[in-house]
Amino acid sequence: MTPTEQLKEEHGGVKVMLRIIGKICDRMESGKTVPVQHLEQILEFLKVFVDTCHHGKEEEHLFPALEAAGVPRDGGPIGQMLLEHEQGRAFVRGMGASVRAYAEGARTGASDFVTNARGYTQLLLAHIDKEDNVLYPIADARLTAKKQAALSFAFERVEEALKKRWGAVPEYVFPSTTGGMMNDCSYRRWIAKAAEKAGIERTRLHNLRHSAISLLLNNGADPFAVQKLAGHSDVRLTTQTYAHVQAEALKRAVGVLDRVGIEGEEGKTIAHRQTTVS
Ligand SMILES: [Fe+2]
Repeated sequence: MTPTEQLKEEHGGVKVMLRIIGKICDRMESGKTVPVQHLEQILEFLKVFVDTCHHGKEEEHLFPALEAAGVPRDGGPIGQMLLEHEQGRAFVRGMGASVRAYAEGARTGASDFVTNARGYTQLLLAHIDKEDNVLYPIADARLTAKKQAALSFAFERVEEALKKRWGAVPEYVFPSTTGGMMNDCSYRRWIAKAAEKAGIERTRLHNLRHSAISLLLNNGADPFAVQKLAGHSDVRLTTQTYAHVQAEALKRAVGVLDRVGIEGEEGKTIAHRQTTVS
């Protein structure tokens, strides 16, 4: 799923909530009571899912990526979307105040909630339409596959931080259980647990790096590709550091000649003689 497909899917969830809000407004306008708890749950959804999660992904990641790709912030769709996010937050603050008044039995509590909720719904429906049909197509056209992959990763981090209630997106690729930096102790526990799960002996993380590179080279991966993955500055560093792996690969390659049965003097294969003399 691309980043914009993910955001569109979230819009689907927002629209479902807007329909629920519409039903609640109808009920309030007809003088019926609505449990305060339901109103609080709606506010929680609007603050956490819509604002922190969805708008957070857009404001912290999508919009800056678009700006970097040459889409101007001011006087264009990004500026307009940011303005509408602020207008939405003002409506949600109004809904919050009216829910508190409603809970205390204030006469204007219900009508204030309806005014803010209807305004919010109208704003969000038009906003979603603009994003789906104008801004996201621009993002699809302007952002490279690499940039889109980075965005998807950033979106995952936003969700992970929310699920684990970290308060902020961690700046580390492998954060601690609280979202901060792993210390030596938590790191050792983590690696021991992972090794146990994988059914291998306890090892250092750096040894796993060696294993990964060796496995790649041993199974015919292009050394230039392995160099990039390993972050080596030069392919010679990769091939020299893992020369023993290549020797294994050469022996196997020669073994192929053995299997096809190229016979030499005294019944030995030519390939066998070449490996034993070198
Ligand atoms: Fe959106």
